[in-house]
Amino acid sequence: MDELAGKVAIVTGAAMGIGARITELLVQAGASVVAADIAHDELTKRFGRAGSVRTCRTDVRQRSDCEALAAAAIDLHDRVDILINNAGITRRAPLADTTDELWDNVLQTNLASAFYMARAVVPTMRAQRGGVIVNVASINAIRGNLELTAYGASKGGMAGMTRVMAMELAPDNIRVNALCPGTVDTPMNDEYLADVEDPKAAMEMLVTKHPMGRIATADDVAWAALFLASDRSSFITGVSLPIDGGRHLGR
Ligand code: NAI
Repeated sequence: MDELAGKVAIVTGAAMGIGARITELLVQAGASVVAADIAHDELTKRFGRAGSVRTCRTDVRQRSDCEALAAAAIDLHDRVDILINNAGITRRAPLADTTDELWDNVLQTNLASAFYMARAVVPTMRAQRGGVIVNVASINAIRGNLELTAYGASKGGMAGMTRVMAMELAPDNIRVNALCPGTVDTPMNDEYLADVEDPKAAMEMLVTKHPMGRIATADDVAWAALFLASDRSSFITGVSLPIDGGRHLGR
């Protein structure tokens, strides 16, 4: 488990859920991680004592924060091998109630951030002649879900951006891929369930949408991220990989 020894990774949204688990697996694999989150207290509670993790207070909606995060990682380690664009939020609303604020918040957090981060690290990856970008998108990049106009736009945009960046950066040995999880058992899903009238029924409904009869764990997604971040996937670029127990197949 030291196949990422000497590699430097940036993970956004690392304080909890999928991002935290990805950070843990990257560390186990030997990488040095610069872990970023707007919830900096949570982040330092989780990783403040881990020798190979540096934490960074970052609001990924802000271009200047993203550029400062990339610069901090490069200053610290002189390189960036892996960028995991994971920070994200969900905001549900029918189209008529989708305000400009909601739209901007979701698009900035989920999509613009990934663009800002990629643009900031690619010159360093190019100079190194290699790197990997993993964009944590969603099943919503592939199929529709009610009341998620902004979220669907952000994740669909991420999949499109992944394909274009993968083509442009392939000659520089920089691979760009996206993960498309179904429902994942994280604080994000807890928040959703806390908000509905009957959480038990809502959970059962979510489970039935996944042909494998369960929702995903953060581990399910993090191991796929580790695979895409490692040389084991050295000829895979531009894909949007469903991690959804078959949900994209049609239910
Ligand atoms: P979560 O809510 O459990 O964790 C998200 C993390 O992102 C938190 O630590 C939060 O503080 C951070 N974050 C939010 N806004 C931020 C900002 N402006 N700047 C910096 N950090 C910020 O969510 P979860 O489930 O771990 O989601 C991670 C990614 O996976 C997201 O992009 C989400 O859209 C995606 N995803 C999640 C699914 C789920 O069912 N949980 C399903 C499919 C995709």
